Amino acid sequence: MIGAGYVGLVSGVCFSDLGNVVYCVDNDKRKIDQLNNGKVPIYEPGLEEILKKNFKQKRLIFTTNLDKAISNSDIVFICVGTPTKKGSNSADLKYVFEVANQLKKLIKTYKIVITKSTVPVTTGDKIEKILIKQKKKNLVDIVSNPEFLREGEAIRDFIYPDRVVIGTDSEKANRILKSLYLPIIKKTSRFFRTSRRGAEMIKYASNAFLATKISYINEIANLCEKTGVDVKEISVGMGSDQRIGERFLRAGPAYGGSCFPKDTKAIVDTGSKFKTNLSIIKSVIKSNNNRKKLLTIKAEKLLKGTLKKKSITFLGVTFKPNTDDMREACSLAMIPHFSKKVLKVKYFDPTGPKKEFSKHKNVEYCSNIELACLNSDLIILHTEWNEFKLLNFKKLVRKKNFIIYDMRNLYSPINMKKNKIKYFGVGR
Ligand code: UGA
Repeated sequence: MIGAGYVGLVSGVCFSDLGNVVYCVDNDKRKIDQLNNGKVPIYEPGLEEILKKNFKQKRLIFTTNLDKAISNSDIVFICVGTPTKKGSNSADLKYVFEVANQLKKLIKTYKIVITKSTVPVTTGDKIEKILIKQKKKNLVDIVSNPEFLREGEAIRDFIYPDRVVIGTDSEKANRILKSLYLPIIKKTSRFFRTSRRGAEMIKYASNAFLATKISYINEIANLCEKTGVDVKEISVGMGSDQRIGERFLRAGPAYGGSCFPKDTKAIVDTGSKFKTNLSIIKSVIKSNNNRKKLLTIKAEKLLKGTLKKKSITFLGVTFKPNTDDMREACSLAMIPHFSKKVLKVKYFDPTGPKKEFSKHKNVEYCSNIELACLNSDLIILHTEWNEFKLLNFKKLVRKKNFIIYDMRNLYSPINMKKNKIKYFGVGR
């Protein structure tokens, strides 16, 4: 695995657990030292345990030595980052091509080189051009095998994938990869072989579609609010149609994370490079950006009276639960906005304080839910961590007339009404 970031580390650890010897290579020496000391640099439930077990059994090797890793491996996964290029929407492929250029010098015997990083369609063709000498001597097959892991659920998603996609025209590479994945594809998942470009496209088309599904239900939620309908009922009613499916139909704040925002932009960029207008995805990006403003305005409206005297609490600030990832979280737009307007913004997140808010004077991290909620005027349930699902708000806030804005629809509006708590959800 080249790149011991999220994708490389989770996949590497899981492949080693299936009995393979895995080299995880990274040029960040500090990260490799950390891993060799049994410390996991990312927050992913269950990862540390499996990592330690396989490290002990010497099936997992963390190293900065690419040469050694390549000469000892049959299969090479490129798992480096593909962030958005500064000043544009396109994916920055410089790390991927850097790796390909290093491989050019190191591949001496047959290897399968696989892109697991999310890369735009035709990237495999470009890697093949870099490795053309090896390709002509049949020393390499370049394959696309996208990952579909969700942060916070990555181990489960790896072991029980809905599908494994292998993009290659090589019989040999396909056979070897099928045997690599055999222990997990034996269960209920499907093993697909497609063209390499097809596999690259499946990844982007999937992420863009999921982002579309979320934005769709979010806009329906806006209409539900105006018409006195509960969007949760709509999600169930729509989702029971198998053609639609119930997953990813939860209305909430704008979608965030390191994937959907980046990948929707990148596929639109690929569209324009190939003179194709992806108008639906363009409007999804716009809708999602608007949503951050829309929810901020709504929260502000809930706080009647002088804002300067009010205290706001955020429960959860990460883009989703079971991760410490703040990338594109809605809270990054909301907290700085409110810090300028209200007396105090307090927040609690199970993954601790966030450097993103440290420069804002009146934003305070609280080390527990009780401190965060005490005397607050407005409580915003931003991330659906399990510990936020059964709270007794009256006991926690200890003041009259506080408001709950439940951006994840965790609580029952009927129960809140019974308890005489001012409660607002999303799309209900
Ligand atoms: C996403 C995809 O789900 C994975 O299949 C993919 O492998 C990954 O990107 C990637 O490309 O690496 P991830 O970004 O970890 O995974 O998180 P998701 O669980 O997909 O959530 C993304 C955002 O959508 C979050 O902000 C979440 O709160 C939001 N969301 C999700 C909703 O608002 N409603 C839903 O019903 C589902």
